[in-house]
Amino acid sequence: MNASFEITGGKRLQGEISIQGAKNSALPILAATVLTDGVSEIRNCPALSDVQATLNILRHLGCEVSRKGNTVFVNSQGVQNKPIPEDLMHEMRSSIIFLGAVLGRFGRAEMSAPGGCEIGLRPIDLHLDALRKFGASISEEHGKIICECPSGLRAADITLSFPSVGATENIMLAACTAEGTTTLFNAAREPEISDLADFLNASGAWIQGAGSGEMVIEGVRALSGCRHTVIPDRIVATSYLAAAAMTGGCVRLKDIIPAHIGPVLPIFRESGCDVQVKGRDVCCTAPPVLRAVKNIRTMPYPGFPTDMQAPIMAMMSVAEGTTVIVETIFESRYKHVSELNRLGAHIRVEGRAAVVEGVRQLTGASVVSPDLRGGFALVAAGLAAKGKTTVKEIRHIERGYEDICAALTSLGAEIKRMDEHVRQQSNE
Ligand code: EPZ
Repeated sequence: MNASFEITGGKRLQGEISIQGAKNSALPILAATVLTDGVSEIRNCPALSDVQATLNILRHLGCEVSRKGNTVFVNSQGVQNKPIPEDLMHEMRSSIIFLGAVLGRFGRAEMSAPGGCEIGLRPIDLHLDALRKFGASISEEHGKIICECPSGLRAADITLSFPSVGATENIMLAACTAEGTTTLFNAAREPEISDLADFLNASGAWIQGAGSGEMVIEGVRALSGCRHTVIPDRIVATSYLAAAAMTGGCVRLKDIIPAHIGPVLPIFRESGCDVQVKGRDVCCTAPPVLRAVKNIRTMPYPGFPTDMQAPIMAMMSVAEGTTVIVETIFESRYKHVSELNRLGAHIRVEGRAAVVEGVRQLTGASVVSPDLRGGFALVAAGLAAKGKTTVKEIRHIERGYEDICAALTSLGAEIKRMDEHVRQQSNE
């Protein structure tokens, strides 16, 4: 069902908001339950289509899965080794995270190749090179990946050429039950990596150094289940701050982990926002007019996160001055630029750089969400624009932002979700 958001802009976002569990933590943690032979209780698990896609794969593999509110229960005692078919893998490309878990559990994994997505080719060479170091033989043919290590995975010393989040996660999952001690250098340092390590260690694994860039993982015989609470979503948190800043608003984020949004807060302060950290709450009050932040470059954590590039670009599109953004992580993550320009922004792309000349006021229009974070950027721009904005293809946005309409409405936004047939009827 194609659905869209109808937004009437010009309302200041004000109030306080609780932040959902982190999508990019929940997904690898759910995949990691395949390694366990018991029941896991995963709290603060957001209700998102990407999470649903992951639960569908767990069910396909024979796990018993249930949800009570925002707690998901997974019983992996009956897990079997079955090839993961294309329809399940293509619902969400980051399902590649099942590779390390299934290989670690069974010594063989077969799944459809994940393919690219809207923001880039998303190669998995770093994942596969690392799994070969554990002794796996890997064949890729007819769109399928088959990993085999019949004698069981053996620990390895691995240095990643790039601190890939997904490759780090697959290495952690494969190393948990490999024979011996694995060392990993140039690992990703994102908070979601530490959250995955916390889940695995609570399930009986032995992982040291998560979050530091260097890890030591002692293989253990088996993992049990455990009870784990997913960390708050740092990208959703700062996405809502960007929307508040663009509307001249004042928003309090409740009960997050302020350190996780540390790489983004300087942008808000440099643009003139008053940002106060109060325990686990963060308050952001926008200035009457935002100031452009001259240079923004996306980097692996703890640098400025690529997932915030689009929401912050929207914010800079109404700031006074010019911002140069350089997207160093993904090769095609500017699809939201043309749509922001339809709303009256002045942005041009030159290779990996986007030059954002701030304008005083955006004007409502009909736009199409190109991907998850670009879609949020368009919603935020619609909230700041004069008049009405329709954002189409919102399925991208609902992959990562739980109850986004209710959340924004609670902050004073005028936003409605319209199913395609309803929108057509209302246009007739
Ligand atoms: C994770 O993707 C996140 N997804 C992404 O969030 C996030 O943007 C990204 O990390 C970077 O922080 C999940 O956690 C589910 P990478 P991942 O491997 O693991 C290249 C969102 O909006 N690369 O760190 O795929 C790759 O092409 C999503 O929530 C290789 O070349 O990111 C990219 O240019 C979008 N070979 C760069 O590394 C490989 O084998 C970063 O990729 C793997 C990656």
